[in-house]
Amino acid sequence: MTSTLFSELQSLLATHGQEHLLAHWDSLSPTHQDQLAKQIRRIDFGLLAKLRQTHDQPQKSSSSVTNAVAPPAVPIELCGTTRSQELRALGNQTLESGKVGMILVAGGQGTRLGFGHAKGLFPIGPISDRPLFQVLIDHLIAVRNRYHTAIPLFVMTSPATHEETVEFLAAHDRFGLPEDDLFLFCQGTMPVLDSRTGQILLEQRDRLCLSPDGHGGILEAFARTGCLAEAARRGIEHLFYAQIDNPLVQVCDPWLIGCHLQANSEMTTQVIRKQAPLERVGNVVSIDGRLQIIEYSDLSADSAHQTAPDGTLKLWAGNIGVHIFQRQFLERMAVSNDGLQFHQALKQTAYCDRQGRHVTPTQPNAIKFEKFIFDLLPAAQNAIVVEASRNTSFAPVKNADGEPKDTPAEAKQRMLDLYANWVAAAKIQMAENTQIEINPRFALDAQELASRIPPGHCFSGNVYLGPDRSFETSPAQGPAHPQ
Ligand code: UD1
Repeated sequence: MTSTLFSELQSLLATHGQEHLLAHWDSLSPTHQDQLAKQIRRIDFGLLAKLRQTHDQPQKSSSSVTNAVAPPAVPIELCGTTRSQELRALGNQTLESGKVGMILVAGGQGTRLGFGHAKGLFPIGPISDRPLFQVLIDHLIAVRNRYHTAIPLFVMTSPATHEETVEFLAAHDRFGLPEDDLFLFCQGTMPVLDSRTGQILLEQRDRLCLSPDGHGGILEAFARTGCLAEAARRGIEHLFYAQIDNPLVQVCDPWLIGCHLQANSEMTTQVIRKQAPLERVGNVVSIDGRLQIIEYSDLSADSAHQTAPDGTLKLWAGNIGVHIFQRQFLERMAVSNDGLQFHQALKQTAYCDRQGRHVTPTQPNAIKFEKFIFDLLPAAQNAIVVEASRNTSFAPVKNADGEPKDTPAEAKQRMLDLYANWVAAAKIQMAENTQIEINPRFALDAQELASRIPPGHCFSGNVYLGPDRSFETSPAQGPAHPQ
């Protein structure tokens, strides 16, 4: 039996020059042989061969990057005008009518943070120590409560984070989100190739080296796991998309939703003004009239440094990984042949060699394949870009404390700064050296905060205003209403 299986696999692999995957076959138990056979049968050799051919070709031709100009964008100054109130009202209505769902991509691990778990488990509440998952779910629950509506949450995990995420969210009762409104689904993987030979690497003697297929893998996984059909069944028409590593994301912001609806946009992207030419954010640009995002690693320093006549950066719009998709656009793209293309990255990856030894390389040795969700932008009809304030919308948690940028300490400070602004706007008193963290379930904005704190109250020390915190308020004060 085993020898038939071996011969079958050997002839399949020989056709593609990958027989080395069976180098340890004889030393494996039948169960492990079976496991390896299953992985081998799932490999799309045709796709790998095609990707291998394009390996040395640059992914964005330099001429197209030269044509890149700043995208037309809904300016931040529009916020607060009468026009913006109309757009916000449009967003409010759509949220109230239950047509909005949320997607959270959480396939990443906390490796760069020096945290050996799924990133969503990382404690980020500056005073509460709430993990990233809780911070974002609290925000979502606050929005659900304000609009008296169910907003289902679809969380994409990866094989490395799936089980831990399922257990963590179950152990914490999904931080209060009803069971029916939470969907966890796992993204796909791609084999990792030896960059010199193009051969698939083994992670162990009985296992291929596989890596997640990028957040763009959501297009396939969302459809395959039935989540897209579930969204349709529930009458969800728009999906708000965010990344797990941004605790300041303005979850289902009605103003952003309003802009998206008014433009009849199939894909809306929120951007911030870049702080420096080489800031490590994707560049949202327009090339020959079509919006697209050029990753920071694909933009030359010369292009990044170009300035406009007023001295500001020409390519100013930074991607914060916040989008809104029309559900029907995702449906169309999920079956489209010209969906997302793979990007290739040269990475340092441990592997098992032909002698069965574990090798930890000191130089990049492997090619990984990833799809990026934002590559859908050029295919979207009426796509728009909406500017947001960095201070209220973006606090990336990428690198360990001690690194120069995008650290937990920096993100925590941004959160505290935002709440301090709310406190000031609400004219609430704060003793010197006081720090306040506000759970959105206590107050979703400065206006709601003002309505919940009795006049004359003065905070001191480290204060966490959680969902259950209550103050004696005068009968004249009631909860805030949506603006
Ligand atoms: C990403 C964006 C960058 C943007 C920045 C904002 C890409 C390629 N680049 O950079 O343009 O300015 O965020 O913070 O996206 N993820 C998965 N599965 C995967 C890969 C990633 O779920 O296979 C999730 C991660 O959990 C994370 C998000 O996608 O929430 C971003 O991924 P990451 O690889 O951290 O992107 P960055 O390089 O930081």
